[in-house]
Amino acid sequence: MSKCLAITHFQVNRQENIALIDGRELVFSLWIEGRAQTMRFGLFTEGAQCWDSGEMQWAPHCSFSGLPMKVKTDYVAVAEIKNEESVIEARMELRTGLMGEPWIAQWIEPEQDAAVRERDIEFFEQFVPMPDHFGGHDRLKPAQELRRVFELKDLPERTVLYASAHGVYSLWMNGERVDARRLAPETTPYEQLLYYQIYDLTGLVQKGENELRILLADGWWIGRIGLTGHSCQYGDRLGFLGQLEFAYSDGQTECIVTDGQFESRCSHICYADLLMGEKWDMSVSPAQWKACKPAGAVSENMLAQPIAPVSSWTVLEPAALITTPRGELVADFGQCLAGVPELVLNCPKGTKVVLDLCEVLDEQGNFFRNILGRNKDQQDVVICGEGNTYFCPEFTYHGFRYVRIEGAARDQIKSVRAVAVGTPLEKLGSFSCSDPRLNQLQHNIRWSTRSNMVSVPTDCPQREKAGWTGDIMAFAPTGCFNYDLSGFLVGWLGQMRLSQTEDGGIPVVIPSYPEQTAMQAKTFGGNTSAAWSDACVLVPLELYRAYGDKQILRDNLEMMTNWMGFIDRASNDYLWTEGFHFGDWLIPSYQDDPMGGAAVTRQVIAACQYAVTAKAYLEVLEILDEPRQVQDHFRALLGEIRRTIREKLIDPDGRIPGDLQGMYVMALYSGAPEGELAQKVADRLVELIEHNGGSLDTGFVSVPHLLDMLTEYGHKDLAWKLLFRTESPGWLYQVEHGATTIWENWNAIRPDGSVTTSSFNHYALGCVGDWIYQHIGGLRPTAAGWRAIEFAPDFDCGLEWASCSRITAYGLAACYWCKTEDGVRVELSVPCGVTAHLILQGEKHELTAGNHVLLLKGKM
Ligand code: BGC
Repeated sequence: MSKCLAITHFQVNRQENIALIDGRELVFSLWIEGRAQTMRFGLFTEGAQCWDSGEMQWAPHCSFSGLPMKVKTDYVAVAEIKNEESVIEARMELRTGLMGEPWIAQWIEPEQDAAVRERDIEFFEQFVPMPDHFGGHDRLKPAQELRRVFELKDLPERTVLYASAHGVYSLWMNGERVDARRLAPETTPYEQLLYYQIYDLTGLVQKGENELRILLADGWWIGRIGLTGHSCQYGDRLGFLGQLEFAYSDGQTECIVTDGQFESRCSHICYADLLMGEKWDMSVSPAQWKACKPAGAVSENMLAQPIAPVSSWTVLEPAALITTPRGELVADFGQCLAGVPELVLNCPKGTKVVLDLCEVLDEQGNFFRNILGRNKDQQDVVICGEGNTYFCPEFTYHGFRYVRIEGAARDQIKSVRAVAVGTPLEKLGSFSCSDPRLNQLQHNIRWSTRSNMVSVPTDCPQREKAGWTGDIMAFAPTGCFNYDLSGFLVGWLGQMRLSQTEDGGIPVVIPSYPEQTAMQAKTFGGNTSAAWSDACVLVPLELYRAYGDKQILRDNLEMMTNWMGFIDRASNDYLWTEGFHFGDWLIPSYQDDPMGGAAVTRQVIAACQYAVTAKAYLEVLEILDEPRQVQDHFRALLGEIRRTIREKLIDPDGRIPGDLQGMYVMALYSGAPEGELAQKVADRLVELIEHNGGSLDTGFVSVPHLLDMLTEYGHKDLAWKLLFRTESPGWLYQVEHGATTIWENWNAIRPDGSVTTSSFNHYALGCVGDWIYQHIGGLRPTAAGWRAIEFAPDFDCGLEWASCSRITAYGLAACYWCKTEDGVRVELSVPCGVTAHLILQGEKHELTAGNHVLLLKGKM
């Protein structure tokens, strides 16, 4: 094995390239290729070193606290790894924020009318078309433009802006956009936490006159958000906060803060709403500037944004510009995505061009508004100016593949593109194989991931854009294989900790928008649910498994413990009986009555989920080496929960009252039935699948474990059949019906071809990726952070070849196999310093680090 050494990832607090730091605890992550012996970290500021970790044995992650870091300072973090032959170094920038110091700046507000609060609606009204709300845009507020003109007596050595908003904002300095981010300050539970951003404007300011401009719109603060589509969930007035600090070479400093010297006017953006869309009027001349009004001191809990900013990550050209049978002009991007349209139009001044966005066309090939509910319009409008008009909405985003363009003829459309928007994610995993349908499924999983990692992990980019906890709980293993989600999800877990209620409850959506919380309470009597709220234990544990960063578990232990207390109090004799549960949400046989499906499965799902979560929590206690007696307590508790499930919910013949597939899957996954009883439970599951025409009938909670349980209990052949099934419900059904992202419902397009009002971009059912990577790709991590790996491809899956890889902290793990004339050729890459085994026909063969090529003869 070559001794060559490389650093593949260097992160501080799970941020790459540049990290905003708002405390004195730092987590350094250093992923490598090759064999490192030692590592060392240093912090430098103004050319001098201010901290040195000393030489340590290399490990992928390393936490330090109480570091000597000053507020509002730039640092360079340097990492160094060594082996006997080489020394490799990596650097990145750190920028500290206010670290709890009070803001000098106060909030300011542009002159504005208070926003209109939408009326309350009944639960069922959230799912019906409400044409009275598709239009009537007068009630929406214009986006405001703010400016501050200032003189600088000299050219500063350093210029930094600390800023945030009640609303969402973008910035320009001296006419230049300061960066490509979108939707700052992003979404958090604003009552408990508001992010601020830090901008280095050093290269953009000049001696003499300067101008800072800001565009400010409703965003999550005022606009319509969540399932209920309510507005004004945090406030009804736009506000901006900014502190612009200059440091000169002679040691002098200067500061400009938001105050009455900032001016504002209504901008060319007539309105911008995250759900409804955005309208620009490029035909009118700008309004008069008016002074902004001071609006009070900062009282929020502010934190320098700890995750990479939302921005555009790719731009798509249309696959086709079609005229539908109805005669409408529609741009088809060939791909569902989260993003915005971008057009250059050449129409006479004053021409109104209306863009409607949707994810699917109807049976006839016409535009079809696939999202129901209040304020879910997804409509952008532009009134053209003189000459060419550029239009690209700034403060909204949509879930779409198709854009209907009304008001402009083909030859007036100079260009039309789709700008994909989301939190930047680093790709780690890959999978491909000889079946193009599985490759499309993997493609769909990736696009649903990118479409739903937008500031927080969302359920879908069109209807709700909301941080539903159950969705990421189901999807985390697949998501964490494909991408580095550590920083992104750690940020979200921070929000979850702040959202935990006094009694330990974890809301089903994080951030739990106030109207969502109220609706949950009113309709269901509570804002928690088995499997959804359990994300507080399962997501941190999954992050630890995927990336090996123990600090994530330490940081979330208290939240998990409080949640375990909540379930304990909601349980009677070890059965989780109290409170609301979504059960095995969206079971195919209950497709027209999801709440009915929830009601039938709630008890078994909650009981089994309690065991799953207790087991996960116990694992966390063991990893963190928590006191013996605490571990013993939870070990005993887990035993009791499992015993209760066995005795009270499973008949001696392995039947579970209610008799739905997901119940059997979850019973097996809970570890409650053992030995012969477990086999009977598994056999009944198989029977149910067979009686159902060989098709699955599992919901959100159980489907991630369906193929695993079949495999574990000797029915791998059936697992293959389910995976390759092309009828509904089945993963390849979607693929064969043209899916480019993962659908929310198996039957989003029905077998008769009719198109339903469903989301076509929900990642939850993409959870099957995890099974595919392990069983077809043959890559299975068996210790946290891929410290141990089993290469276990199944050559019997009917495919000709498969290729799967994952960048790990130790290097690239890869498995490629292909059928040959007389056997199978296998190529493996084993990273340094991991324990690795190849599993062949049930036998374990130890593997050394490096590349291996095996030619296996005979039938495998
Ligand atoms: C969301 C889901 C979510 C569910 C809760 C839906 O409206 O889109 O993905 O988990 O509600 O049952």
